[in-house]
Amino acid sequence: MPTFDVAKGALASAKADLLAVPAFQAPEGDGGRSKKKDKGPVAPHVPEATAPVAEALGIDLAAELVALGFEGSVGETARIPTRGAVKARQVLVVGVGRAADLDADAVRRAGAAVADAASKTESVATTVHAVGELDPAEAARAFVEGVALGAYRFTAFKSEADLHRLEHVTLHAGDVKPSVLKTAVAEAEAVATAVALVRDLVNTPPGDKRPPAFADRAREVAKEAGIKAKVLDEKDLAKGGYGGILGVGGGSDAPPRLVELSYSPSGAKTHVALVGKGITFDSGGLSIKPAEAMETMKMDMGGAATVLGVMQAVAALKLKVRITGLLALAENMPSGSATRPGDVLTIRGGKTVEVLNTDAEGRLVLADALEHARELEPDVIVDMATLTGAALIALGDKVGVVMSTDDDLSDALVAASRRAGEPFWPLPVANDQYKKLLDSEVADVKNVGGRKAGTITAGLFLHHFVGDDVSWAHLDIAGVAWNDGGREGYLPKGATGVPVRMLVEWLRER
Ligand code: BES
Ligand code: MN
Ligand code: ZN
Repeated sequence: MPTFDVAKGALASAKADLLAVPAFQAPEGDGGRSKKKDKGPVAPHVPEATAPVAEALGIDLAAELVALGFEGSVGETARIPTRGAVKARQVLVVGVGRAADLDADAVRRAGAAVADAASKTESVATTVHAVGELDPAEAARAFVEGVALGAYRFTAFKSEADLHRLEHVTLHAGDVKPSVLKTAVAEAEAVATAVALVRDLVNTPPGDKRPPAFADRAREVAKEAGIKAKVLDEKDLAKGGYGGILGVGGGSDAPPRLVELSYSPSGAKTHVALVGKGITFDSGGLSIKPAEAMETMKMDMGGAATVLGVMQAVAALKLKVRITGLLALAENMPSGSATRPGDVLTIRGGKTVEVLNTDAEGRLVLADALEHARELEPDVIVDMATLTGAALIALGDKVGVVMSTDDDLSDALVAASRRAGEPFWPLPVANDQYKKLLDSEVADVKNVGGRKAGTITAGLFLHHFVGDDVSWAHLDIAGVAWNDGGREGYLPKGATGVPVRMLVEWLRER
């Protein structure tokens, strides 16, 4: 990640390689681009603050941009050589879209565009964060997040890494108090660090993060962050009756783990439990997946990684909320010791599950972890899991699923997701007809509810274990945790780190 700092002086005299400035797209209808009669292109609007840079270069910046065909849409960039007029070699103009549509996510995407354009540049000085009517701290946070997340590369296993060369970004404060921006920068760095941690963990090959190794890594991260960590190994799990985690992990020669993280600041008024599915590789078990479906199944620990990342960020931000994080870690493998279709598992607390499909394993490890969470009597439980392929079918890979028995909680999570630019949308929990789909002939419930409404029946399975005595929400992140397409703005190909920022945003408000 590049380093960020804040400066007071004029942008034109900055010592960086590149000066990045914002530009708005012309308002809709202005100039009537769509009307046949109107020929000339419409000039984007360059904010006042950029005037000294244009003056130093001795150019009419707006006219120059029109000549380049630059319109100012979000993330669009244009380079203008300075030919020695200032210290920087180029001015980078970055579109932030129409002024009327400006929000934090537009600035975040503009930040990613700066990272993209500066991938072969060492230093950037900028005023892109200082744009429009947005709160200056919020805009600076979004900008720094955009740059840092956009510059992310997973290079741990490359012998010749295509490194991102951007090392240093200086935010020019203009008439905003530098201390305000400095705080904003530090907050954004904490969040971006957590997102990068989650991306790294999820991108890590499955053989390098089997449950004992993942638990060790979680312990390390916790220690550095000042968070307490407790790891239950297979013996502890057997003693505690965690039949779901043991049943799922039974097919692997790397035993399962349950990691409990505790962040307990003084003065905290609420206790939040975060529970994450941590299947370090999902082969499907004996109900084995087809080869192509397995290719991305190293990402099946995205929920557990998110819990760890959120706690790291929350500790760095010193938020006044008590959090218990639970990472339910197992490797789902076929073998002579694997759970068989037809086997019955006893979950912690005594409820039984008939396992008809060993590929519906996430809900089994979560059932144990949710019961563990419930016993701690938190005010609220939020679980997150790459739980169902059906979530991808229902909402695709850009919108996550939230299911909750508490409308206020659901609304707060959806609102936070919107602010973070990580949209989630609700699916219903209360549905007695669908609940019946989980009825079992031999146990309390079975672990599959048929092909229809697969995301909802998975959520209903979890609800069977949490019950109604605690405020609870379930996030199905099977779609949003992974990006199969190419890099898009601050979302890289592969692990996305969603929903870390959404949850941090939600926790800020609690
Ligand atoms: N880890 C998968 C869900 C998944 C699929 C995540 C694709 C990301 C991308 C989960 O364990 C699983 O296999 N679910 C089954 C459930 C079915 C057997 C009821 C599924 O979605 O097919
Ligand atoms: Mn599975
Ligand atoms: Zn899975």
